[in-house]
Amino acid sequence: MNYNFDEIIDRKGTSCVKWDGVPANWNGRTDLLPMWVADMDFRTPPFVVDALRHQLEHEVIGYTFACDEWYQSIINWVKMRFDWDITREMITYSPGIVHGITFAILCFTNPGDKVMVTPPVYHPFFLMTEHNNRKVVWSPLVLSEGQYQIDFDRFREDVKGCKLFILSNPHNPGGRVWTKEELQQIAEICAESGTLVVSDEIHADLTLPPYQHHTFAKVSETARCHSITFMAPSKAFNMPGLSSSYCIVEDAVLRQQFFSFMDASEWNQGHFLAYIGCAAAYSHGTEWLDQMLAYVKGNIEYADAFLKAHVPSIKAIVPQASYLMFLDCCELHLSQEKLCSFFEDGAHLALNTGTTFGKEGEGFMRMNIGCPHAVVERAMKQIEIAYKEWFSR
Ligand SMILES: Cc1ncc(COP(=O)(O)O)c(C=O)c1O
Repeated sequence: MNYNFDEIIDRKGTSCVKWDGVPANWNGRTDLLPMWVADMDFRTPPFVVDALRHQLEHEVIGYTFACDEWYQSIINWVKMRFDWDITREMITYSPGIVHGITFAILCFTNPGDKVMVTPPVYHPFFLMTEHNNRKVVWSPLVLSEGQYQIDFDRFREDVKGCKLFILSNPHNPGGRVWTKEELQQIAEICAESGTLVVSDEIHADLTLPPYQHHTFAKVSETARCHSITFMAPSKAFNMPGLSSSYCIVEDAVLRQQFFSFMDASEWNQGHFLAYIGCAAAYSHGTEWLDQMLAYVKGNIEYADAFLKAHVPSIKAIVPQASYLMFLDCCELHLSQEKLCSFFEDGAHLALNTGTTFGKEGEGFMRMNIGCPHAVVERAMKQIEIAYKEWFSR
């Protein structure tokens, strides 16, 4: 079957953050094309919607437990996509990954403990740490030859004394797919310093060929024993409104500790649509996902080529995974405030400002191109017009 990703779907009036949240986040403005929050403007796959619809047609919405199909679909999916052998006992539901990471912070650390992040990075990693009175240790990535790298000398020093390291695997906003060797090195260094690795793999299913995602827990025995992993069908199948995440823990001691924490407040109790939606996505999703990734790859290549040809001072960090493009705008030599104004007042786009992801994001903007191609074309033309207006005066 061929799925249509060109279709423009009007999402306005659905309380969706990406479209309906623009005025609240941009001083009441309604002229901005939203390319910020990380969900896609594509239709959620029909096999997911049909499964939810079918369940609702029963018309009794009672208490529900995690069905066998849910467990089995996860076991099959991680085996098929990442060659990861897991068992049912290793899986727990989590009501979202940000929630899950926060539970991990609360479970494995005490107030005042240190938690390390590698900025620029998905902001809830450090915000949840701060909000829960833990201390953030910043170990910045370095941008080298157009891609983010880990400065391992610095990493080794920074991680000393940290109870947790929160890893974005693959990386948001940089789009890096970490190599097996890099992940093995992270595992060794963290094990030496007694730091537990929380591997957030929400973008794993969005790894773009020819890159290959490596599940952190699988890269070595050390990694397996010193990590917990969060995953979800939410990003890849465009269903983040369903809160259908889960956590996999291989190590029995860590598992006992984390799963009893989750159980103590019943955070492990999912809702029936999450179980059904996840099972449907993983049971029928391969073809849809492969087509969607090919489409997104086309968007990325188009945007990158367009910028190179027409706005060479803005350089796309070409993502190896996911539909988020981090735009390096340092050559425009604008303050972050002016840079935001360039994109808002000049290009009429709503993007995430780079400093959301830490001060290392200064000079950058994050653009979401998980949308019909025509929208990316329109956005690129708007950037070109703004560029001409602002810089050829
Ligand atoms: C790295 C990363 N983790 C987690 C999330 C959000 O996950 P959830 O909606 O399940 O809390 C996002 C969303 O953009 C993300 O990029």
